[in-house]
Amino acid sequence: MSRAIPSVLVLHGPNLNLLGTREPDIYGATTLAALNAQLESDATELGLRLHAQQANGEGELVDALHNAVGTHAGVVFNPGAYTHTSVALHDAIRAIEIPVLEVHLSNLYKREDFRQRSLTGAACIGVIMGFGPDAYRLALHQLHRRLGADP
Ligand code: DQA
Repeated sequence: MSRAIPSVLVLHGPNLNLLGTREPDIYGATTLAALNAQLESDATELGLRLHAQQANGEGELVDALHNAVGTHAGVVFNPGAYTHTSVALHDAIRAIEIPVLEVHLSNLYKREDFRQRSLTGAACIGVIMGFGPDAYRLALHQLHRRLGADP
């Protein structure tokens, strides 16, 4: 019997629409469109479907997580600055029964004190950070492994 191709949601939080021009010394020169195109190509190679979405608002991100249930098998999520502040996103991640993997382009441990705590990461299955766009690619591979092991 053939299995349906699993779909993964890649969810980008606030200010990530400005990737490529936003503080390139920290976040690099890759634009969001280029990053999404790379992830689409990786997903195709892995036999996954991928939907990429970006939102600046906390409520929009909560809605996107809720709406992922029944549509996507897992989520790769960069909550941006909400990582450090959002109980609502922590709760939304805990509330949905699909795996959410947190990613960050930068290594938060090398940065300001206010970035040292991740409220959202505590609700995720794991966190990958500090490898620029490759953090997302590694997360996609990890999610693929997990979905294969536990469909
Ligand atoms: C970020 C790190 C956050 O602290 C910051 O607010 C961002 C980007 C990262 O990908 O490195 O917007 O999530």
